Amino acid sequence: MLSTRITDLLNQQINLEFYSSNLYLQMRAWCDSNSLEGCAKFLEQHSEEEMQHMHRLFNYVNEAGSMPMIGTIQEPKTDYKDIQEIFELTYQHERIITKEINKLVNAASKEGDFSTVNFLQWYVSEQHEEEHLFKSITDKINMIGMDGKGLYFIDKEIGAMAEKRDAQ
Ligand code: FEO
Repeated sequence: MLSTRITDLLNQQINLEFYSSNLYLQMRAWCDSNSLEGCAKFLEQHSEEEMQHMHRLFNYVNEAGSMPMIGTIQEPKTDYKDIQEIFELTYQHERIITKEINKLVNAASKEGDFSTVNFLQWYVSEQHEEEHLFKSITDKINMIGMDGKGLYFIDKEIGAMAEKRDAQ
């Protein structure tokens, strides 16, 4: 049985993962409307992954005999300056998620709730990968630059990353 505090924190994380999914879906729509099909595919894929993260938490809370609660989800921003802004925001967002996961691990550990600590290890590893992924994308965008054909190559490169993830 989860404590009230851990249930509340897990529910906050459920909400945050839901928001992440909506945020990436919204960003995908911006990319689509700007003919950036590779970026759109990548963000669509990532939106689906975030929904899986949400479900994994939701099921854990349920299986532990507590009530998962979604609550009100913050509206994502709809307008973006360019693709550089989008991927810088995704990287910042993933860093926030990592901090929240670390807070959760810390709280569960302090309570001696090792089942939750164990469950959260998957998220610890996932966040390490996600931060690395989004950082590498922002680095690539900065390296290639968006002038001339730069934007075209960025979109192709990010689209290829999505194809590769699909094939895994
Ligand atoms: Fe579920 Fe990208 O954090």
